[in-house]
Amino acid sequence: MKIETEAIHSGYDVDSATGALTAPIHLSTTFERDADGEYSRDYVYTRSENPNRSELESRLTTLENGFETAAFASGSVAMMSILQALQTGDHILAPDNLYFGIKVIMTDIFAAWGLETVFVDMTNLDTVKAAMKANTRLVIIETPSNPLIKVTDIQAVANIAHDNDAYLVCDNTIPTPVFQKPLELGADFVVHATTKYIAGHSDALGGAVIAKEECALWQRLRVIQKVGGAVPSPFDCWLILRGLQTLPIRAKAHAENALTVAHFLENHSKVEAVLYAGLESHAQHTIAKKQMTGFGGLLSFLVQGGQNKAMAMTTHLHLIKRATSFGGTHSTIEHRASVEQGTSTPQNLLRLSVGIEHSDDIIADLAQALDAI
Ligand SMILES: Cc1ncc(COP(=O)(O)O)c(C=O)c1O
Repeated sequence: MKIETEAIHSGYDVDSATGALTAPIHLSTTFERDADGEYSRDYVYTRSENPNRSELESRLTTLENGFETAAFASGSVAMMSILQALQTGDHILAPDNLYFGIKVIMTDIFAAWGLETVFVDMTNLDTVKAAMKANTRLVIIETPSNPLIKVTDIQAVANIAHDNDAYLVCDNTIPTPVFQKPLELGADFVVHATTKYIAGHSDALGGAVIAKEECALWQRLRVIQKVGGAVPSPFDCWLILRGLQTLPIRAKAHAENALTVAHFLENHSKVEAVLYAGLESHAQHTIAKKQMTGFGGLLSFLVQGGQNKAMAMTTHLHLIKRATSFGGTHSTIEHRASVEQGTSTPQNLLRLSVGIEHSDDIIADLAQALDAI
């Protein structure tokens, strides 16, 4: 089936008790045990499994073409659980421009637990090869990345990781499975902040790890999920699933608007540069075209005149809100350098999550704000 159909139907038919087309929310934390001591209906306790979570996990597995999914309470704890599944002394390679929050998890929490992470430019394959060590167990990529929109060649980095017996984890939050299928390109795990495009309405926090196949790391991760319980609530699963049904049509609307807005910004005299994988001027546009079927809704741009001009510009916006996060229906803008401590993100960079309002209205708002500075 096509992704538009899978996003609505996979993992659920109708409620067997009532015929409801939309699943009920199963708030019960505990489930009846059979007289013989078995659990023939598969549910025991909501920390280890819940019907709403099973539906979400099953649908994400289908969309990413994976083996199984573990849903988590946030994108950050999804990645954190992968790190917890490693062993003290393991070495990790991660992108130099990895989402800031996850970088903090690696440096401020897991370094003290004996996991060493080296941050490298994943767009330079020689650098990646040279940074691999005998104890490198994990290579993490995020493509396109947040907020520099760098694109990594998934297949090429998968080959480097596998030649060294390391797993490749790909954060697929920005492109979503609508535009990119990392497991088909050699990644062993996909990570999502379902908080973003998958839930899609800025109203639910969540994360997920999708495995390509059964393996030792996956088994440990499952134990961490079920025993630890950093899982989304049944209501959050239900909201994420509701968002997921329209992901394919929303993703296309986001991407169409983002390309139109990127062209507008690229031709504006007060804009120094635009970072968007769909632009021919993007440094890795050829790789993006090879591995993506669309370029998503997130872009960054550099304002002429430095940080003050960039920040001033955002104060003149009306429709586009100054807010963190991305992937919702509303357009939002953020000065990333001021929220990323000690960052190398340029001071005049603004990250724009292009929403699904009409592109004429988004452009009109940007135009008047740029005119005002
Ligand atoms: C690419 C990427 N991955 C993961 C995360 C973390 O997700 P969450 O905020 O749900 O913890 C973010 C958050 O912005 C992100 O941008």
